Amino acid sequence: MLILRAATKRDLPEILAIEEACFDDAWSADSYAEFLGGRGNSFLVADDDGVCAGYVLARFAVDEFELLRIAVPAARRREGIGESLLSRVTRDFGDFLSAAGLEAGKGWLEVRSDNPAAIALYRKIGFGDRSVRKDYYGPGADALLMALDCFV
Ligand SMILES: CC(C)(COP(=O)(O)OP(=O)(O)OC[C@H]1O[C@@H](n2cnc3c(N)ncnc32)[C@H](O)[C@@H]1OP(=O)(O)O)[C@@H](O)C(=O)NCCC(=O)NCCS
Repeated sequence: MLILRAATKRDLPEILAIEEACFDDAWSADSYAEFLGGRGNSFLVADDDGVCAGYVLARFAVDEFELLRIAVPAARRREGIGESLLSRVTRDFGDFLSAAGLEAGKGWLEVRSDNPAAIALYRKIGFGDRSVRKDYYGPGADALLMALDCFV
């Protein structure tokens, strides 16, 4: 059975293997270890009977969150795992706002404009386009800045 739960140190080897397979600019083991347990950091894994089927990292601060990473192993894509992970982040952020006595906040993310799968996922969750940073990731690879309005 697939559940979403907080990541632990024990998840890191599997997460790092997925990270290496998914990203040219993979985060290091040290970066992941440092992120774990950091104040305001949300780090969730999709745990399918002990096997990592995806993960998401976000940072919550005051009335904003930033989505830093989301990945699902290639063999498990289009099963709704990415959407579940990101929906959970937005729900947790709503709880974070409530706990601070706030009624509204914003989510932010930056994505390569040549990543249609991720952009489609973000739009499905409700993120809208805000601006484009031309050639941000190198010649011809723009960054798209997207935002989500969150209400408690
Ligand atoms: C982006 C990513 C996390 C999506 O995860 P996923 O589990 O496959 O996504 P889901 O199955 O939850 O898809 C949810 C919605 O996103 C959209 N979507 C996801 N993959 C898509 C694709 N390849 N093409 C078009 N739309 C896509 C669809 O709207 C989909 O809803 P639908 O299946 O009802 O049509 C996954 O493709 C991935 O890990 N990519 C590599 C890492 C990466 O680029 N991360 C983002 C940058 S940090």
